[in-house]
Amino acid sequence: MSRLTTRYFRNAKLEERKLVMVTCYDATFARLVEQADIDAILIGDSLGMVIQGHEHTLPVTLDEIIYHCRAVARGCRRPHLVGDMPFGTYQASLDQALENSTRLMKEGGVQAIKIEGGQERAELIHRLTTAGVPVMGHLGLTPQSVHQFGGYRIQGRSDDAADRILQDAKALQDAGCYSLVLEGVPATLAAQVTKTLSIPTVGIGAGANCDGQILVLYDLLGLDERFNPKFLKKYSNMSKEVVDALAAYRHEVRDGAFPALAHSHH
Ligand code: KIV
Repeated sequence: MSRLTTRYFRNAKLEERKLVMVTCYDATFARLVEQADIDAILIGDSLGMVIQGHEHTLPVTLDEIIYHCRAVARGCRRPHLVGDMPFGTYQASLDQALENSTRLMKEGGVQAIKIEGGQERAELIHRLTTAGVPVMGHLGLTPQSVHQFGGYRIQGRSDDAADRILQDAKALQDAGCYSLVLEGVPATLAAQVTKTLSIPTVGIGAGANCDGQILVLYDLLGLDERFNPKFLKKYSNMSKEVVDALAAYRHEVRDGAFPALAHSHH
């Protein structure tokens, strides 16, 4: 079985087939994501929050992303894999970005990388894509700019801000991006960007009219009962299921019900 490619993304838009993406960070979940027939996995720097417990994504390093990419790549064979370029790994120079993104592909086993930012990244994206590095863009509420934004705020609400995002999207497409994540923007703006571009958009908190959707795996599984933003639909209540299972295990160990004879070697 071979991996889905950037061509699959292009064709999905042409054939009006919605792209379905999730984030994932390890081999066990990657196996399950593949069983659910999800098209693509982002090994996102959101791992800084959901795996490492940081308040934001900024502390994540390239080596950490590569470690998780390798785990995911070992766990599944079909989904298209995208590795996130962490904060500080592509801003210093074009050479630094090329070196780091090729490391991510070679060592992480991903087919593409993702970079946050608009027109200011156009030259970089052109350099990467002409060097053979497929790039997924990321506009709107780009989490690596949390301090610049002064918090996690919906972007593109004013006419000016919406126009900037539309111009950024066109610039990213012209620079060579094969797809574009739109995060935390009004649904009408995401629809307009999606209609304007020939590359597919993948939305998160960007309404129903993107060419695809992405959610953080742990969020859609309901693994954090404290996290309930408006854009999120939880398809499971796994935080409760996990706590219930662990409490049942604790009870059974304490009262001697586990291990039973059936779980003992004879
Ligand atoms: O890191 C991440 O998980 C992301 C998605 C939310 C798009 O960038």
